[in-house]
Amino acid sequence: MLNVDRIDLFYGASQALKKVSIDAEPGKVTCVMGRNGVGKTSLMRAIAGHQTVASGGVTWQDESIVKMASYERARRGIAYVPQGRDIFSQLTVLENLKVGFGMLPKSERKISEEIYELFPVLKTMLKRRGGDLSGGQQQQLAIARALVTKPKLLILDEPTEGIQPSIIKDIQRVISLLRDRGDMAIVLVEQYFDFAKALADLYVVMDRGEVVLAGEGKDMQEEEVRRYIAV
Ligand SMILES: Nc1ncnc2c1ncn2[C@@H]1O[C@H](COP(=O)(O)OP(=O)(O)O)[C@@H](O)[C@H]1O
Ligand SMILES: [Mg+2]
Repeated sequence: MLNVDRIDLFYGASQALKKVSIDAEPGKVTCVMGRNGVGKTSLMRAIAGHQTVASGGVTWQDESIVKMASYERARRGIAYVPQGRDIFSQLTVLENLKVGFGMLPKSERKISEEIYELFPVLKTMLKRRGGDLSGGQQQQLAIARALVTKPKLLILDEPTEGIQPSIIKDIQRVISLLRDRGDMAIVLVEQYFDFAKALADLYVVMDRGEVVLAGEGKDMQEEEVRRYIAV
């Protein structure tokens, strides 16, 4: 279980997060919605340990991680797929997948067949350069690279941004498969209402650094949420 409790985050004098709280639990998807610039990525980076918070708590599996470095959080099973994907364009698909191994002991440095079952297209492209993949394929590679470490908390920052509809469907299917396994908590940043609605067990909507709506996915009211999102 992840519990983010009233965190504040600043860039210099400007406050990007104001008393933001969210939860995530195994077997569930927590959707974070809101327009550009409201602080969604800052929140994800704060959870993954790439950004320091000024106050508030972050607890993961009954342990406070708020002061931990990002690699220590990664070792505890937290994987972050950044917005924009960050694929190494000069490395092959296989090399990109192996980048995910960094933190694993040697004996665990294997790419399980399951990764290719989730993303069959990657298996056919192992020798291609990351930069030669389409945006949607790069997104799948970025998710696959995170899964190589067998995370218990998967953070996905706008995985559907700028991606063609057929691949959006594939990504939706993968996220629900991972959720239904029951042992992984998923935090999904999403601007598309329909995609969020299809996946959200829990949701929060942000505006100007604050949580303005939150609840269970089944209670998400389209009209209410649409006031705070663009698409
Ligand atoms: N590294 C940074 N330095 C200064 N300001 C930043 C930085 N990253 C984000 N911001 C600002 O913080 C606010 C929230 O940004 P961000 O978390 O990226 O929002 P979102 O992901 O919802 O688009 C924006 O006003 C953005 O300009
Ligand atoms: Mg963002």
